[in-house]
Order: sequence, then C-alpha cells, then structure tokens
Amino acid sequence: MEIKNKVAIVTGASSGIGEAVARQFGREGAKVILAARRVDKLQTLAQEINAMGAETLVVQADLSKLEDILSLVSQTIEKFGRIDILVNNAGFGRLDWLEKLDPVKDIQAQIDVNVMGVIQTTRQVLPVMMKQRSGSIINMCSMAGLVATPTYSIYAASKHAVHGFSEALRREVKPWGIDVSLVYPGGVVTEFNQHAGINRKTKASTPKFMLLTAEQVAEAVVKLVRRPHRMLIIPWLWSVTVFMNKFIPGFVDYTTINRFTIPEREDELNIK
Ligand SMILES: NC(=O)c1ccc[n+]([C@@H]2O[C@H](COP(=O)([O-])OP(=O)(O)OC[C@H]3O[C@@H](n4cnc5c(N)ncnc54)[C@H](OP(=O)(O)O)[C@@H]3O)[C@@H](O)[C@H]2O)c1
Repeated sequence: MEIKNKVAIVTGASSGIGEAVARQFGREGAKVILAARRVDKLQTLAQEINAMGAETLVVQADLSKLEDILSLVSQTIEKFGRIDILVNNAGFGRLDWLEKLDPVKDIQAQIDVNVMGVIQTTRQVLPVMMKQRSGSIINMCSMAGLVATPTYSIYAASKHAVHGFSEALRREVKPWGIDVSLVYPGGVVTEFNQHAGINRKTKASTPKFMLLTAEQVAEAVVKLVRRPHRMLIIPWLWSVTVFMNKFIPGFVDYTTINRFTIPEREDELNIK
C-alpha cells in the first residue's frame, strides 16, 4: 500500500514511537489522525505535520474507554470518509514484582489499554476496512510478547495477548484485502521507562548497541504498510533470544533466574 493520501489512525501519538510514526506518515503525505490523552502534545504535533502539507485530525481519547474509541472512529469517518491504516500503538508497562503491582492502577490498567484498547479499536475499524476491501493494521507488540522476563509479568501477558489476537485476526481478515502486521521492538528510547516504575538494582537492561530510537521503529512501521509482514523483530538479533526461548527454555530460565531474579531480590529475601 502506498501511504500518500491514505487515512491513517495512530494511537498513542503524543510521544515516543506513536509520535514518530505520525510524523513519518505526515512526511509521506497521509491524512493522519492523532489519538491519545495529552491533547496539547497532539495539537503541537498536528501543527508540525500540517506545516509539511499533510492533513490531520486530533482526537483526545483514553483507549481504555469504549466511548472514546467509538468517538475516535466516528470523527475519523466524519472527516475523511474512510480508514486505510490503523497503528495500534498506545500502551505502557508497569514493571515490578507481581505482588507489588497495584491490582487496579498497574494490573487492570495495563490490560485495559494494551489489550482491550487494541481489540476494541480494531473491532470498530474493521467493518470500515471490510467495506473498502482493503486496509493495513499494524499492532505494536514487543519482545515481551515473545520472551517474558521477571517484573514484566503483566506487560508480557498483555503483549502475548496482542500476539495471539493479531495472529488470529490476520487469518480472519486476509480474504477481505486487509493485512495485519506485528512489530516486536526490543528496548526503544522513549518515555516508556518514566511510566514503568522500574527500580532496578542490577544492571539488567538492554545493551546500548541494541537500543532503538522511536524513528527507527517508525521507519519499520512505514515499511510494514508498504510490505506487510507477520512478525517483524527489531533489531533482528533479538531473534536469537526468541529461538533460545522456544528450543532451550531451560537455559533461558537458568540465566534469567540467576542474572535477574536472585541479585535483584537478595536483600529483601535475606539470602546474601
Ligand atoms: N519503549 C520501549 O522500549 C518499547 C519496546 C517495545 C514495545 N513498546 C511499545 O510501544 C508502544 C509505544 O510506547 P513508547 O515506547 O512510545 O512509550 P511512550 O513514549 O510512553 O508512549 C506511549 C503512548 O501511549 C499513550 N497511552 C498510554 N496510555 C493511554 C491511554 N489510556 N489512552 C490513550 N493513549 C494512551 C500515551 O499517550 P497519553 O499519555 O497522552 O495518553 C503515549 O502517546 C507501547 O505499546 C509499548 O508497549 C515500547
């Protein structure tokens, strides 16, 4: 699919990957719908994209609320009459030991945005794309959707759900001319960590050379619109970890427990 003049919804466009994707779509001449809760940030980005000569629509939406999703889709149809591209990007992680996560603010909220937000937005957009007999849906997964590590329990559950949902959907909607692609980035430098509540004692983080910028992920998303792909793991080196997790999970368990879990918790468990 070419991007020029296409109508593209980007959720979570107020920062990080979503912002970079929206900007990239604007550069390519798409009509970009920017959705998130921080409307001031969306408006600033919309002005920037308009200055490139592309049309925009700003919709303030909390993706955990069905009424906001309905409004996002109806405002898009009212202004542009169709939807060609949906990037389900909005999401966040609250990364801590399970018993320390708040049942509502951390656990329920992650599932509501990362899983229900993706499902309900897609559910509302789908009839529009089916009528058109064309469309491209790109779901922002994560390496955590393939390999789950300590303190990522709920985030990993949410991204595994996105993986399963997208796989089924891809097979459901292909006959209607709709492509479903999944992106699995490793660590990306965005606001993500500020919202995650990470308080690590060990240096268990993504090696610097494996860190991506939001722009690199946005470029991958643009490529997926042009040439859909079932699974895009970036950087590709993470595929080695995915392979090991699938075929030698005992080794991954061993290294994870000994490198992450025990050093992180030895104080509180008094096992030094
Ligand atoms: N950064 C990473 O290392 C990484 C790696 C793999 C995958 N990802 C995934 O990439 C996606 C984007 O994350 P990011 O790294 O770009 O982080 P970010 O800079 O924190 O952006 C998150 C975006 O999601 C939006 N959002 C959060 N809760 C929302 C809600 N209830 N309703 C509507 N929008 C909401 C935020 O907008 P408002 O706060 O304005 O609502 C923001 O625009 C997420 O799905 C994340 O899981 C990130």
